[in-house]
Amino acid sequence: MSQLTMEQAKALLATTTTQQHLFEHAIGVSAAMGAMARHFGEDPAYWEAVGYLHDYDYEQFPEEHLRHTADELRAAGVEDEAAIRAILAHGYGGCTDVEPLTPMEKSLFTVDELTGLVGATARMRPGRLSDLEVSSVKKKFKDKKFAAKIKRELIQQGCDMLGMPLEEVIGLCIEGMRAHMEELGLAPVQA
Ligand SMILES: [Fe+2]
Repeated sequence: MSQLTMEQAKALLATTTTQQHLFEHAIGVSAAMGAMARHFGEDPAYWEAVGYLHDYDYEQFPEEHLRHTADELRAAGVEDEAAIRAILAHGYGGCTDVEPLTPMEKSLFTVDELTGLVGATARMRPGRLSDLEVSSVKKKFKDKKFAAKIKRELIQQGCDMLGMPLEEVIGLCIEGMRAHMEELGLAPVQA
């Protein structure tokens, strides 16, 4: 069984996805997954590839998200069942009943929503991601009216699964995403 690579993930997502904001979401989740992998002493390149591919069917099937993923990825040559399972498990409780069990699965479940909150918080500030602090994101986490579509309860559920405080996971998301802030459109605004 060959592990999913970033090269493969990029080629696959490009076959189903056209919208820039979805590619930015893929990059953000991928970047955060790299930081989570480093935290767990796992392979960042692998977790980044899985993160990049996680919304493979979303643009084409927003109402049937993750129901056009497993068999389709296998047919497209993906042999990595652990990657497929992690992708399915990121929709646990909503789109699928595949429970996140491994650190990679729990991380993907958590950072999918959390990277959205980190990005939305960064966008409010001139320094964007460059000097974003954990406390700013934590404040926006508590302010339910801010970026109201981001599901705080899923983020908290994910942190509980991971057994990590919210602050720590926010910090890792910021760290991972900051390394990709240009690609994410979240570099500081030039004065
Ligand atoms: Fe996602």
